[in-house]
Amino acid sequence: MEALSKNFFLYLSNNSVLDRLAKKWGPKFGADKIVGGETFEQAVPLIQQLNNQGLHITVDHLGEFVSSEEEARNRAKECVDTIRSISSNQLQSQVSVKLTSLGLDIRHDLVWENMINIMEEAKKHNVVITIDMEDSTRTQKTLEMYKALKEKYDNIGTVIQSYLYRSSEDLDDLNSYDPYLRLVKGAYKESGKVAFVEKSYVDDNLKHLIKKNLLNGNYTAVASHDDAMIEYTKSFAKENNIPSDQFEFQMLYGMRNDTQLALLKEGYKVRVYLPYGDDWYGYFMRRLAERPANVAFAVKGIFKK
Ligand code: FDA
Repeated sequence: MEALSKNFFLYLSNNSVLDRLAKKWGPKFGADKIVGGETFEQAVPLIQQLNNQGLHITVDHLGEFVSSEEEARNRAKECVDTIRSISSNQLQSQVSVKLTSLGLDIRHDLVWENMINIMEEAKKHNVVITIDMEDSTRTQKTLEMYKALKEKYDNIGTVIQSYLYRSSEDLDDLNSYDPYLRLVKGAYKESGKVAFVEKSYVDDNLKHLIKKNLLNGNYTAVASHDDAMIEYTKSFAKENNIPSDQFEFQMLYGMRNDTQLALLKEGYKVRVYLPYGDDWYGYFMRRLAERPANVAFAVKGIFKK
């Protein structure tokens, strides 16, 4: 049943007709509880409020695949404006980007040029940029881009997904780059050829990656709502004297708010991933696919509107 609903929402997440309609409607059906607004300026007061609670943020301008060079350049410009706004509003926020939104599927030199523009601005304002990880057909290109940029800039991180068989080797490969890594289970529909299908293997591999990255001495953002992963990180760090400034917890905006605040109270650094923009549909459907319980607030949202 769970697999059925997961596949259903992942299928819906790729429906371009619904995607186009969603852009017209604005965040609906409960999506407004997990999306910070349609523009970055709308999200600023929310970021200030979360910062005042002690939470750090990473913002994500929703939207993945672009089909034209102009769209990709506009996306990069939006990122540059966001970095300036983070700085002028003195927000505690990083920026997460998806390379497909910057032209990864169009031309290598286009995405490179867009990333350089973003990184130059980010360096000027001391803002960290994290490259989100997309589906497995883009993993290699994304890691190559990360490594090339890391040779020029310190303020850049990326993501490793524990469902991929390759991830432990990727950590070894990245180790010499002094990487800033967000470790996640993985959110895309992948085949058994490249990824663990069994959830328990994905969970075990995430623990393995957390352990390896911490012992390598690299900065580790554990991005999971799963108590088992959070507890594992806490006890591993304690037992191995890992300094508290070498790791943080990350959660999505609107998910497990009480746990976010409880971790803060215990003295841990917590970062909230806050998406914004009119392209909320695919993001919303993927969250529903991950956790059918999220359907409950979506259904309530439908009846409230
Ligand atoms: P999972 O879905 O495995 O659930 C395990 C258990 O945790 C559940 O049984 C439940 O007990 C608890 N739980 C989970 N969600 C809960 C909720 N909302 N409320 C209460 N309990 C809950 N993926 C990707 O492919 N590329 C990326 O770049 C990113 N980036 C990213 C950033 C951040 C900050 C986060 C938190 C996540 C991502 N992800 C991602 C998504 C990630 O790969 C993964 O799909 C989701 O986090 C779901 O996995 P979890 O480990 O959170 O719990």
